[in-house]
Amino acid sequence: AMLDRLEGLMGRLRHAGDAIAHDLRSPLTRLHARLEAALLDVEAGAAQPAEALTQALEDTDGVLSTFNAVLAISRLEAAGQIGNPTAFDVGRLAEGVAELYQPLCEDKGLDFSAELGRGLYIKGDERFVSQALANLLDNAVKYTAEGGAVMLRARRRSSGDVEISVTDTGPGVPEVDRARVVERFVRLENSRTKPGSGLGLSLVQAVAEAHAGRLYLDEGPGAMAGSGPGLRAALVFPAGG
Ligand SMILES: Nc1ncnc2c1ncn2[C@@H]1O[C@H](COP(=O)(O)OP(=O)(O)O)[C@@H](O)[C@H]1O
Ligand SMILES: [Mg+2]
Repeated sequence: AMLDRLEGLMGRLRHAGDAIAHDLRSPLTRLHARLEAALLDVEAGAAQPAEALTQALEDTDGVLSTFNAVLAISRLEAAGQIGNPTAFDVGRLAEGVAELYQPLCEDKGLDFSAELGRGLYIKGDERFVSQALANLLDNAVKYTAEGGAVMLRARRRSSGDVEISVTDTGPGVPEVDRARVVERFVRLENSRTKPGSGLGLSLVQAVAEAHAGRLYLDEGPGAMAGSGPGLRAALVFPAGG
């Protein structure tokens, strides 16, 4: 049994390595192409070396952040659990994250509201859960047009499980696309005008699973004021701690 488990772990690690190599090939190829084009421009006198280098540095930052995100996702997926789990209150954590996002929503003309319970203890890694929640709020803010609303909720379900949800009044994700938007690098057609790498929901999903939890994507509150139906993203964790 021990051997089986080791073999399973090795297999998952190998898979993680392959996935990282595969995921980084296209951003690195893009960076290479941009550097090549910049070099040609500089040689032709069409651009200053400093400009080309500044651009290349920015591109490198992009590749690095993609790398970090892919690595975090792969490690979580390979481990399938959190290393040294500690108990923490999801309601308290959400309150801290809400303080960061309230002003961001106001800046964008979105109505922000939060309904946060307390004593919602789960066991795991507080930073990962915080990052997952931030990724969901980032999406809500990014994809919901001015005049819309973003709602954050943390509560205990009647089953005892702990649920944090982010609901927005934006375009939502059509039911047929809900399974694939959590895959790495998947971005829906009408989102491509917004910045993003398509890794946010993959990390959220990996964080949920490493906590023996789940990510649910559903329709939001429905069509209103010419937009909608909105998205409701919920993280459900088993109670613990
Ligand atoms: N709140 C949302 N409203 C509408 N579409 C969303 C929302 N969240 C995610 N999506 C869709 O799912 C895709 C994947 O999301 P994500 O993994 O966070 O990547 P990114 O935000 O970098 O594009 C987005 O590109 C978008 O098409
Ligand atoms: Mg995102």
